Amino acid sequence: MSEPNQPALENLLTEGRRFEPSPEFAAQANVQAGAYDAVGEDLAAYWAGRSRELLTWRTPFTQSLDWSDAPIARWFADGTINAAYNALDRHVEAGIGDRVALHFEGEPGDSRSITYAELRDEVARTANVLASLGVRTGDRVAIYLPLVPEAVVAMLACARLGAPHSVVFGGFSAEALHSRIEDAEAKVVITADGGFRRGKPFALKPAVDEALAKGAPSVEHVLVVRRTGQETAWTEGRDVWWHDVVPQASTEHEPAWVEAEHPLFILYTSGTTGKPKGILHTTGGYLTQVAATHRDVFDLKPATDVYWCTADIGWVTGHSYVVYGPLVNGATQVIYEGTPDTPHRGRWWEIVAKYGVTILYTAPTAIRTYMKWGEEIPAQHDLSSLRLLGSVGEPINPEAWVWYRRVIGGDRTPVVDTWWQTETGAIMISPLPGVTAAKPGSAQTPLPGISANVVDDDGQPVPAGGGGYLVVNQPWPAMLRGIWGDPERYADTYWSRFPGVYFAGDGAKKDEDGDIWVLGRVDDVMNVSGHRLSTTEIESALVSHDWVAEAAVVGASDDTTGQAVVAFVILRGGGPEGVTEAELVETLRQHVAKEIGPIAKPRQVLVVPELPKTRSGKIMRRLLRDIAENRTIGDATTLADSSVMDLIKSELSGGGSKD
Ligand code: WT7
Repeated sequence: MSEPNQPALENLLTEGRRFEPSPEFAAQANVQAGAYDAVGEDLAAYWAGRSRELLTWRTPFTQSLDWSDAPIARWFADGTINAAYNALDRHVEAGIGDRVALHFEGEPGDSRSITYAELRDEVARTANVLASLGVRTGDRVAIYLPLVPEAVVAMLACARLGAPHSVVFGGFSAEALHSRIEDAEAKVVITADGGFRRGKPFALKPAVDEALAKGAPSVEHVLVVRRTGQETAWTEGRDVWWHDVVPQASTEHEPAWVEAEHPLFILYTSGTTGKPKGILHTTGGYLTQVAATHRDVFDLKPATDVYWCTADIGWVTGHSYVVYGPLVNGATQVIYEGTPDTPHRGRWWEIVAKYGVTILYTAPTAIRTYMKWGEEIPAQHDLSSLRLLGSVGEPINPEAWVWYRRVIGGDRTPVVDTWWQTETGAIMISPLPGVTAAKPGSAQTPLPGISANVVDDDGQPVPAGGGGYLVVNQPWPAMLRGIWGDPERYADTYWSRFPGVYFAGDGAKKDEDGDIWVLGRVDDVMNVSGHRLSTTEIESALVSHDWVAEAAVVGASDDTTGQAVVAFVILRGGGPEGVTEAELVETLRQHVAKEIGPIAKPRQVLVVPELPKTRSGKIMRRLLRDIAENRTIGDATTLADSSVMDLIKSELSGGGSKD
């Protein structure tokens, strides 16, 4: 088996392999050839049609898109709707309440299957509990939970009340949780005593206590799920056990019928500055596009498919393709709490076989990890139920794509490489599984109803074979509606680079067939295992440590995680006394984990005497990346002090750590 490698650009653009859908797949596909032409010129009218087809509106809308106040978009603005009603109640009313909504697989081996009717009742009870804790339509609720059914219930209970949720990934630190609770001014925090990971319980509630101790006057209550049974500190009057209140609550609950543009959730993601952006999504347009793409791209047949998206609900993939898309479509899905290697490296494939998973959606970093572990592991399990595979989060190397299709998909399944972002809310560029001749490594074509392109520095579309920036030319229903509390940053970040056009922050190429290859971020954002991290945010964490005077962080290419964090630090006054370099490096790595979360922990910390800067003081990360990737150092002529690179190289005599 060959080792996964990042392909050179030339290889990307001459990729010759094509994987046509089989005639059997194509014949039964939800979306047939001709889908692109059927959209017509009026994209808003197309989406209005999809919305009527896929959602149940309380008050039908008469307006599709209002773009008169661009870049503020209003979709279906005079309609009223409720997201939880669309995800649950209407399926029960339609007589499919007995269908399993969630097959939950806990890491320790516990499992539960929950029907649509049961989930509807649990959400209604929880909505009543949240209301009794003071949550009203428009109030924000922070959710900090492992991937257990209560996480899905909590999100939908908020949606039922029209109370925007802000889910914070359970792997984030108390510090990160605090800044997100504070920014959104959450009234209630929903958490658990802990969760299970790598065979051991980990605690969550102490991080909430620590976050609230830093000051969060908006928070009135903490609702706590018991998952691990760990000993938990308790603040009387503020903290409430889920099991003391939810089971007793009434299942009678009238959903809040909100306007289409009512906020559904805030989700924080990394940008180019140190402060994470609270990406705001609203209700009607978002639900329309997540439902449509979930049905079209994954060829979903709700009555027969068993769908599994491996993302955590802490990321946008978990919002759009674990919670809202699948449930609005009435799908049966699997959710799994743990890691792929617990208790053994075949766990995922065991789960696929156990539930007969038909559609699997995961990230390239997981696929590369499984490639490294060897094909014998998946070969020990019956994967014959799989009929479609999806990839998301970062570019997938053609070799990983082909391996995924051959080893996991039995050389039979279509593979869809889906490009989108927290900001786009839903899939934007992807093959259509029954239509497209798939090309490994390329997301290929904007979906019907989406107008995206690759443009040059002047905003002009590049010809076939050209490279530039990925843009979206026309508003789309699931687009972000802003950055929480910072309207200027919204306009600046996304709509000012090319006026009137959405700038995605990704570099891209268009090949000779006009297919799009997304190459990765062009800004100071890294992508580690499909998770977005800001270089500035990690630099700020490093300089918040007493020992560090200055820091520069780069994303260096990594065979498994796509990119890895490499930090260069200048120590204050020559560094602490009596601490070895290895101890120093480990302390700084742990410090970053504490400030942001373990995913942000640098792979290496290199102590340097200087940083390469331009005359205007901008750190030349390109040169540091050359060092981090063991390359010959590129053009350093614009440095303020051209000897800096020699100085750095001569000082770097084996310092740093790697694990
Ligand atoms: C960034 C968005 C989309 C949900 C998970 C990540 C990269 C995402 C692909 C893909 C190449 C991809 C981009 C994008 N990305 N999918 N199929 N091919 N790159 O959401 O955390 O907001 O990150 O992930 O760089 O800008 P996110």
